[in-house]
Amino acid sequence: MKQNISVVPMLFAKELKLSAKMLYGFFKIGKARLFPKHDYNYNHFKNLGLVYFKLTAACNLRCVMCGQYGDKGIMKDCAAEETKKTLPLETWKKFIDEIAPQRPVTYIWGGEPFLYPDLFPLAKYMVDKGLFFSVNTNGTLMEKHAEQIVRDKWSTIFVSLDAFREVNDELRGKGAYDKVIAGFKAINREKQKQKSNYPFLAVVTVVTNKNYMDLHNLAEASKEYNLDLHVFNLGTYTNDKIVETQRRFMREKFDTDIDCLEAYNTGYNLGIDGARLHDILQNLHNNDYGHTMLTVPVLNPEKTHTYYADLEVPVRNHCIVPWCQANVNYNGDVHFCADYPDYILGNIKEQSFKDIYNGDRANKFRKTIHECEGGMFPGCLRCYQNMLFGKKIKGF
Ligand SMILES: C[S@@+](CC[C@H](N)C(=O)[O-])C[C@H]1O[C@@H](n2cnc3c(N)ncnc32)[C@H](O)[C@@H]1O
Ligand code: SF4
Repeated sequence: MKQNISVVPMLFAKELKLSAKMLYGFFKIGKARLFPKHDYNYNHFKNLGLVYFKLTAACNLRCVMCGQYGDKGIMKDCAAEETKKTLPLETWKKFIDEIAPQRPVTYIWGGEPFLYPDLFPLAKYMVDKGLFFSVNTNGTLMEKHAEQIVRDKWSTIFVSLDAFREVNDELRGKGAYDKVIAGFKAINREKQKQKSNYPFLAVVTVVTNKNYMDLHNLAEASKEYNLDLHVFNLGTYTNDKIVETQRRFMREKFDTDIDCLEAYNTGYNLGIDGARLHDILQNLHNNDYGHTMLTVPVLNPEKTHTYYADLEVPVRNHCIVPWCQANVNYNGDVHFCADYPDYILGNIKEQSFKDIYNGDRANKFRKTIHECEGGMFPGCLRCYQNMLFGKKIKGF
C-alpha cells in the first residue's frame, strides 16, 4: 500500500501554490518531529504547523460512531444552550491575525461547521490572509453555498461519507448521502463555470464493522464525483481498560478528569476481519478511480487485525502534536488534543494564543508526554492525530 507522502506529487501537479502552502505546514510538523524542544523557555509558537478550529458544537446529524453525537457521544445529551455557544467573528479574526505569520495549515471542523453563522466571512478572511483553508464537513449543507465556496477559493473540503447510499445512511442518517452528492455536483458545476481548481474535493471515510465490506461500492460510485482525494480513516476506538488507565493517569499527572475518551468506546471495531479489510483497502489502492487514495494509518498487512482487535497494542507512538499543533474550541478554549478536549491550556478570549502555547500548562503537558514510555499517554493508542503524525512502530 502506498505511503501517504505519495499524495504530495499529485497535489503539486494540480495546484502548485496551494500545495506549497500545505507542504510548508507539514514541513514544520516534520521539523518538530525531528527536533522536539524540551526547554521551558523555547518559543514553540514559531513551530505552529497545523491549527484546528472547532467552530461549533452543534450538529444536524447523529452519526453512530461519532465521539460527539454518536452512541456514546459527549454532546449527545447536552443542553441546546451549549450548542448555541460560539465565538464572535471578531475573536476568530484577532486569533487569525496572531497566527497567520506562522503560516500554519488550518482545518475547520465541529460539530458541523456549516452551522457556524459566520463561516463564510471567516473563510474569506482566512483565504485573504493567504492561509491554507480546509474544512471537514458532513456535506449535507454544501449545495446551496457552492457558488460562494468556489468564488472565495476555499482550499480543500473534506466531506464525510462512510459508504454507498444505504449503508452510509444507516450510519449517518437518512438522506445524508444524496445531499452530499448534490453538494459535489453543485461544486463541480461552479468550478467549471468559474474556471477554478478550488476547492480540492476529498472524501473521508471512517472504517467501522458496519461499513468495511461496502468500501468498494463507495469507491466505485465516487468515480463520478470528480474527487481529488479519498481518505480511509481506520477509526478511533478504545476499551474500558484503556479508559480507566487514562483516567487515573490524567488525574495523577494533571489533576484533570476525562470525559472524551469514553466516547470512542463504541465497539464498532469489533468483529472486523483484518485480512479481509486489508485486501479491500489494497484493491482500492491498486485500482484507478481517478483520484488518490490514502489510508490513515498505513499498516503492514498482518497488523490490520491488531489495529481493531488488540486496542492496547500501540501502532504509532511519540506524539508530536504538542510541539506543532493546537485545537481551538467553539468557546475559545485551547487544547492540544482535538478529539479529547479535557486538558485546557488557556482561552483565546482572555490571553494571546502565543502566551497560551508557550505557557506553563502547555509546557507541563509537553514535559509529561516526553517522560512517558514511547512518548505517548496510555489513552492515545488509536488517536487520529497520532495516527497521522506519530512515529511508526517497527513492524507496524
Ligand atoms: C466529528 S466530525 C466533525 C465534522 C463534520 N460534522 C463531519 O462529520 O465531517 C470530524 C470527522 O470525524 C469523523 N469521525 C466520526 N467518528 C469517528 C470515529 N469514531 N473515529 C474516527 N473518526 C470519526 C467524522 O466522520 C468526520 O470525518
Ligand atoms: S456529522 Fe460529524 S459531528 Fe455530526 S454526528 Fe456526524 S460525525 Fe459527528
